[in-house]
Amino acid sequence: MENKEIVRQIEILKKEKNAIVLAHYYTHPEVQDVADYIGDSLGLARKAGETKADVIVFCGVHFMAETASIISPNKKVLIPAKNCGCSLAESITSEDIRKWKANNPDGVVVSYVNTTAEVKAETDYCCTSSNAIKVVEHLGKDKNIFFTPDKNLGGYIVKKTGINMHLWDGDCCVHEKISTKMVLEMNQKYPEADILIHPESNCACDDKILNLPNAYFYSTAGIIEHAAKSNKKQFIIATELGTLHQLEKKNPTKEFIVIHPKTICGSMKKVNLKGIYEALLNDKYEVKVPDKIANKAILSIQRMLKIG
Ligand code: 13P
Ligand code: SF4
Repeated sequence: MENKEIVRQIEILKKEKNAIVLAHYYTHPEVQDVADYIGDSLGLARKAGETKADVIVFCGVHFMAETASIISPNKKVLIPAKNCGCSLAESITSEDIRKWKANNPDGVVVSYVNTTAEVKAETDYCCTSSNAIKVVEHLGKDKNIFFTPDKNLGGYIVKKTGINMHLWDGDCCVHEKISTKMVLEMNQKYPEADILIHPESNCACDDKILNLPNAYFYSTAGIIEHAAKSNKKQFIIATELGTLHQLEKKNPTKEFIVIHPKTICGSMKKVNLKGIYEALLNDKYEVKVPDKIANKAILSIQRMLKIG
């Protein structure tokens, strides 16, 4: 089948099954174009909770589909490709958290949404890159906080809030490549540009970058919002390259320069149109978090959603 016909069939199946397609900004452009909603981790989690659809086809990575299943346990959550892992989510286990808690009975665990359901079940507060500062500030300076699993986002929050935290040594294999050297070189080459940086980046806790007047740190949705609102004409994009699709679509007169051509998340790119069509046709691959884990994990997600 040609892509045009696959898209037509996807639209028919969406109606037949009362299904919604959710896609992360890092997926392929053609995937984003068939989605009913495109978002960052927080936006997608919220949408999964709000939708009246019976079926959610989640175009993203596995932990995101798990989060949707935890939030909407009565809906069928499908992920259109197998083995969509995430280096951050895979860097820590629930046993690692239990060990830290045993040694820190007064401690509070804050975990980035990029974690497995089992880890969320041991977590007190979940957060995403959009609301991590708010969540940590809500806890305040006097708490003994363990931030997992992203050391770069954790270090960035420590710098921005002045709140000290124990950090787990995990990183995103894509954003870890975005170094101070790379940003400084690009800044020299394009001095008029705003530099929009995802806080998972390796450079996110380096004062040399934090102090640049034209450097801004945002979640993926924040990067897109900044570019739309800004009067600048040129932007250096320091995140996964899939973000360019919406940036260019929404701002045809602005120029977006990628920080490095290799900032690509292989797992996000496993989702394609054929996979979405087959997911809808054959109800595959269902992601269902067992009730015992989901009932615990939902508490950390609800605490996050309440804060903002
Ligand atoms: P956001 O979607 O919160 O920007 O996070 C980026 C990411 O790497 C998702 O896995
Ligand atoms: Fe995980 Fe990084 Fe891919 Fe996001 S970009 S899903 S953090 S590996």
